[in-house]
Amino acid sequence: MVKIGVKSSIGRMRLQMLLGYVLFIFSSLSVALGAFVGINIGTDLSTLPSPEQVVAILRSHQITHIRLFDSDNHLLSALSDTGIEVMVSVTNYEVLRIGQTPSAAASWINKNVAAFVPATNITAIAVGSEVLSTIPNVAPVLVPAMYNLHKALVSSNLNYKIQVSTPLSMDLIPRPFPPSAALFNSSWNSTIDGILKFLKTTNSVFMLNAYPYYGYVQSSGIFPIEYALFRQLSPVKQIVDPNTLFHYDSMFDAMVDATYNAISAFNYPAIPIVITETGWPWAGGGKERDATVENAETFNNNLIKRVLNGSGPPSQPGIPMNTYIYELFNEDKRPGPESEKSYGLYYSNGSSVYALGLDAIGGGVSVNGSGGFCVAKKGADVSGLEDGLNWACGPGQANCSAIQSGQPCYMPDTIENHASFAYNDYYQRMQSVGGTCDFSGTAVITTVDPSYGSCVFRGSTNASIGGLVQPAFGPVGPTGSVSSHELPYTWGLVLGIVLLAVL
Ligand SMILES: *[C@@H]1O[C@H](CO)[C@@H](O)[C@H](O)[C@H]1NC(C)=O
Ligand SMILES: *[C@@H]1O[C@H](CO)[C@@H](O)[C@H](O)[C@H]1NC(C)=O
Ligand SMILES: *[C@@H]1O[C@H](CO)[C@@H](O)[C@H](O)[C@H]1NC(C)=O
Ligand SMILES: *[C@@H]1O[C@H](CO)[C@@H](O)[C@H](O)[C@H]1NC(C)=O
Ligand SMILES: *[C@@H]1O[C@H](CO)[C@@H](O)[C@H](O)[C@H]1NC(C)=O
Ligand SMILES: *[C@@H]1O[C@H](CO)[C@@H](O)[C@H](O)[C@H]1NC(C)=O
Ligand SMILES: *[C@@H]1O[C@H](CO)[C@@H](O)[C@H](O)[C@H]1NC(C)=O
Ligand SMILES: *[C@@H]1O[C@H](CO)[C@@H](O)[C@H](O)[C@H]1NC(C)=O
Repeated sequence: MVKIGVKSSIGRMRLQMLLGYVLFIFSSLSVALGAFVGINIGTDLSTLPSPEQVVAILRSHQITHIRLFDSDNHLLSALSDTGIEVMVSVTNYEVLRIGQTPSAAASWINKNVAAFVPATNITAIAVGSEVLSTIPNVAPVLVPAMYNLHKALVSSNLNYKIQVSTPLSMDLIPRPFPPSAALFNSSWNSTIDGILKFLKTTNSVFMLNAYPYYGYVQSSGIFPIEYALFRQLSPVKQIVDPNTLFHYDSMFDAMVDATYNAISAFNYPAIPIVITETGWPWAGGGKERDATVENAETFNNNLIKRVLNGSGPPSQPGIPMNTYIYELFNEDKRPGPESEKSYGLYYSNGSSVYALGLDAIGGGVSVNGSGGFCVAKKGADVSGLEDGLNWACGPGQANCSAIQSGQPCYMPDTIENHASFAYNDYYQRMQSVGGTCDFSGTAVITTVDPSYGSCVFRGSTNASIGGLVQPAFGPVGPTGSVSSHELPYTWGLVLGIVLLAVL
């Protein structure tokens, strides 16, 4: 893994440009009652953005949960005060020493966790990555490593805030279908038993890496691709578990249920599963013909919808399937088949590989200028406008490309003009889902169309832009820029109803 260590100071405009290019947006990837979609950040890239840029990209997409494959200290400090929940990892290389030496675990916790909390919101430690499948010789010290880390957390009084677990691969379940009959490979019985006992005792989650991509490719045609991509199955192709008669709409659900079943064979009930990796490559070599942009786009968009729907798999409908997508960036330096380099949602410059959004949830919302325009208040103080502008173009998801140098709304090159454009773009998109025109008191509504020359403000009757926008699920902004409780509350209600219906 390459270290994220290069600091670069990025000016406001550069940051805005980066954000401006990030065109497709997740909306907020978390809803009430805990269902969330997070993202893995691998760093095997030839051009790795600086930690500050990585954080800017995360914020612009309102990503609320991330998993790092290491404990890069520069990135951990860039993540401070962002509220983003961070899972750090002990690398496979470090597991042996930490398992053998309690003091090594204590110093790892001091250096990589205690030094950053609470400013950086570290909530979990992943011990290794698929240790049993990739470095089986280290398996005997895996559980001791987990205990050593947990004890170090206890000494630092952090054990109530931070869980310890270890991501395991679906490979440990040789026959995952039907889910009701799935068992772990029995050569691992005693290790798995030790892991489950640890998780139960410390009230932690089971971490699972589950890739329908591999499940589909390796099933050599037994399962239809629709099943792997969360697409509707035709009535003649329904996938049903013959023992439970549960219908499986997706292989993802079936994999998670297979794992719940394998766990239940050990009599440790109610250990929730978090999916630490899943994804679909958008490009591959000659033999990887299912690694296409279209499939990757379908998989990840449907996955987001599926997870944020909040329900669990058929056997555990009450436990949301919280999931980390693999992965943020394409890792061009990863060894192995072409597809290994092509799991990223974004290039390292921040542009997205394909459209990713929640457009289909709740449908689009048509906006027009009937609610007036939102512009910078005359005489508002410059630093307030600057904050508002940065927020609008970043987390607020306004389309700020028109105010970049050389674009129609760049001139006059003043904070006030740029803020007006960004505020209005945000307001026109978000007004119907609770966005307000406030920006900490630096914004005001006007009925006068602020468009000029070829600079057309969204909502102008002359505009050819406008049209469908993505709904937002509660962007959190500076005080007053969003009617803050409205959206999560609405979703809480919807999910509450869903869960009631399920229970
Ligand atoms: C950290 O994450 C936890 C769990 O979601 C949350 O309750 C807490 O408010 C977060 N802390 C900060 C400082 O954002
Ligand atoms: C079970 O695991 C052992 C040890 O890793 C391996 O040799 C064996 O092939 C696995 N069995 C199956 C059915 O995957
Ligand atoms: C492994 O564990 C499973 C589930 O508890 C059990 O059915 C199986 O017999 C065990 N295998 C061995 C070899 O102990
Ligand atoms: C959530 O997804 C599951 C699985 O596809 C489905 O059975 C359930 O009806 C969905 N719930 C809602 C509210 O869409
Ligand atoms: C970002 O990088 C990708 C891949 O190298 C390239 O196709 C794209 O044009 C770049 N976007 C910008 C805005 O530079
Ligand atoms: C603008 O929106 C209002 C209210 O949603 C609607 O009645 C009106 O027809 C819309 N106007 C245009 C030009 O779309
Ligand atoms: C952002 O605005 C530019 C014009 O300024 C337009 O070409 C582009 O399609 C817009 N992007 C989005 C995602 O709406
Ligand atoms: C809108 O278009 C009309 C006709 O093309 C033009 O006269 C008017 O000035 C435009 N309004 C704005 C605000 O650009």
